[in-house]
Amino acid sequence: MGTFVSVTREQDMSQIAVVTIDNPPVNAMSIGVPKDIMDAIETLNADAGVAGILLKAGGNGISGGADIKTQGKAWPSDQPKVTDLIRLLDRSEKPVGFLIQNATLGAGLEIAMGCRFRISTPAGKVGQPEVKIGIPPGAGGTQFLPRLVGAKTAMDMILSGNPARAEDVAQTGLIDRMVSADNAVAEAVSFMAGEIDAGRVPPRTSERDVQVDDPDVFETARETAAKKFRGRTAPFVCIDCVEIATKTPIAEGLAYERKRFLECVGSEEAASLRHVFFAERQARKVPGIGKDSALRVIDSAVVLGAGTMGAGIAICIAGAGIPVTIVEKNEEALQRGSKRIADTFAGQVQKGRISADEADRRTKLVSFDMSMEAVATADIVIEAVFEDMDVKKSIFADLAQKAKPGAILATNTSYLDVNEIAAATDGREADVLGLHFFSPANIMKLLEVVRGDKTADEVLVSGLKFGERIGKTAVVSGVCHGFIGNRVFAKYNREAEFLLQEGATAVQVDTVLKQFGMAMGPFAVRDLAGLDIGWAMRKSTAHLRNPGERYSRVGDLICEQGWFGQKTGKGFYVYENGKPTPNPDLQAIIDETAREAGIVTDTVSDDTVIERCLYAMVNECAKVLEEGIALRASDIDLVFINGYGFPGWRGGPLHWADTVGLAKVLAAIVYFNEGHDFWEPAPLLQRLVQEGKTFADWDREKAA
Ligand code: NAI
Repeated sequence: MGTFVSVTREQDMSQIAVVTIDNPPVNAMSIGVPKDIMDAIETLNADAGVAGILLKAGGNGISGGADIKTQGKAWPSDQPKVTDLIRLLDRSEKPVGFLIQNATLGAGLEIAMGCRFRISTPAGKVGQPEVKIGIPPGAGGTQFLPRLVGAKTAMDMILSGNPARAEDVAQTGLIDRMVSADNAVAEAVSFMAGEIDAGRVPPRTSERDVQVDDPDVFETARETAAKKFRGRTAPFVCIDCVEIATKTPIAEGLAYERKRFLECVGSEEAASLRHVFFAERQARKVPGIGKDSALRVIDSAVVLGAGTMGAGIAICIAGAGIPVTIVEKNEEALQRGSKRIADTFAGQVQKGRISADEADRRTKLVSFDMSMEAVATADIVIEAVFEDMDVKKSIFADLAQKAKPGAILATNTSYLDVNEIAAATDGREADVLGLHFFSPANIMKLLEVVRGDKTADEVLVSGLKFGERIGKTAVVSGVCHGFIGNRVFAKYNREAEFLLQEGATAVQVDTVLKQFGMAMGPFAVRDLAGLDIGWAMRKSTAHLRNPGERYSRVGDLICEQGWFGQKTGKGFYVYENGKPTPNPDLQAIIDETAREAGIVTDTVSDDTVIERCLYAMVNECAKVLEEGIALRASDIDLVFINGYGFPGWRGGPLHWADTVGLAKVLAAIVYFNEGHDFWEPAPLLQRLVQEGKTFADWDREKAA
């Protein structure tokens, strides 16, 4: 048979031929694969000794679907496409079954849905993840899935984009039979043979009707999507396509889906989300450290501190099945942390995210201790105690004595110098790195893996792998004040505050940036995080500030009133029953600081809000990049998408800047610099503009 398929028979059931797709690593539908499968199906259809065909992915059993590398590129005209293959499967006279044995996603699932039977092992996972890269399913998913599981379930699956365990969705009608992992092919073959013999072949998917239980289902979906997918297009296209499936014969539905798919595939939203997809894969690589670098085994963990961060970090670790001990020196804090963890697991059960058994398993993985002796057996120790250099240094000096040889010693510091903390170990600097989580640590996806001057390569890559294992998007950062994220975000927040002094309101700034796509406006974020944290940091670093540089005292004066944001019910906003309204006393503070600083207020346009806040971010990102604090522009994009609510569909600040045009960004920065001498244009940005290049070009050249 062709390069990408093999055809076999189970010895005793020769009426069912087994076609195995062989295109490692994920059996993607690269050029040539659909044709080989089609040739096999056609040959078997002509074979009188064949009653049915079982199609399956070879190797690891993953059916990866479309090859993302071919997306947006021309497909050779003499080569059949996945859609041709699916049409053939649907039409095939000899019924075809698909054996799901692992992730069967996107076009992988569409192929399975083109078949008459879907049979799965317990390891099977199904899903239509396309919405995550800014497109609807493009090979019939929006037409087939509703025909199999009904309009509502189909829409939920397509809009979530998340894979579901085949076992969990078997009842929806998507899976005809579950088989055991050990004997999957034989059981699937025997099931199909039995059904065919008994004349119980299910109808062609294309010939089924769509079940719609609730006529308002589409309007309700659009209303929910308007909140969840602010600024995006693809999710709404998915809803339109599923709705069409309920109204037209399949051929029209498929044509409609195709048209809408093509509209989306060339959109900026899709380009941005594809960029994010590849950025995530890039972030796992560290230049100069090979794939086969040694890794440290991490089978047990200790977290120091049961506070806001420590408890959240322990929840992530237990979630990955790793036993974790929290060491706390304060009995009350320990009780609070323990309660928070128990409440979180209970909440996850209540929301249906995990089963009660799973919650029980995770709870048992977390233990508590009040003695540092508990660190002795841990493979990794993550320190999350007060943000105080002396406290951290004494802890790391102690860890150097008590942690076993080869243990990784990590700090969750937000701003402190990881090299100085490492030096306190006096000889174990190679074991030390930063693992900077974001609050709430069990929810936020970002993990900055901070590489100290002396961090061993294997410790760094083990940190990255550990991050991945506990469900984080891990990004390498060098050492500087605030690392990548907090350093750059400070510039963004600073501009937002300056704009208040120049005449904007907090509501205006927050609204404009939310409309741009940020998850929350900067002032709402600060109120949520607690204004006192930044205030304490500003006070402790006041001596480092350049006295000639513009400084807004708005945030400090707010804190002096005892307003720390949501936790005190007042900050940039006033909170009653959790709902924010503008703080009526804020303007007087803004006016006072503006007067002191001799700032003339005026109206501030919405465009100015975008440019001032976001170009400030881009400018600082360029500095972070050139200093080597970030390994690549795409890493910085991931930091802001996963840690700071930057819209993924805009691809992160640097991808977005590329789409705006760096010359335009730089021109605005130069203009702002004339008015305020604190806007020093980043040399890298200037160079890229001179050379007519983008941040993406910078990444490509660095990777070459
Ligand atoms: P927290 O004040 O809520 O918790 C710190 C805990 O550490 C307290 O319960 C304290 O009793 C305990 N502790 C102090 N010394 C200890 C010792 N020697 N041994 C064991 N436990 C000890 O502080 P939070 O907010 O959890 O911050 C912890 C660290 O995480 C800080 O370095 C902070 O900068 C960093 N961080 C905080 C974020 C946040 O949003 N809160 C975000 C990212 C990092």
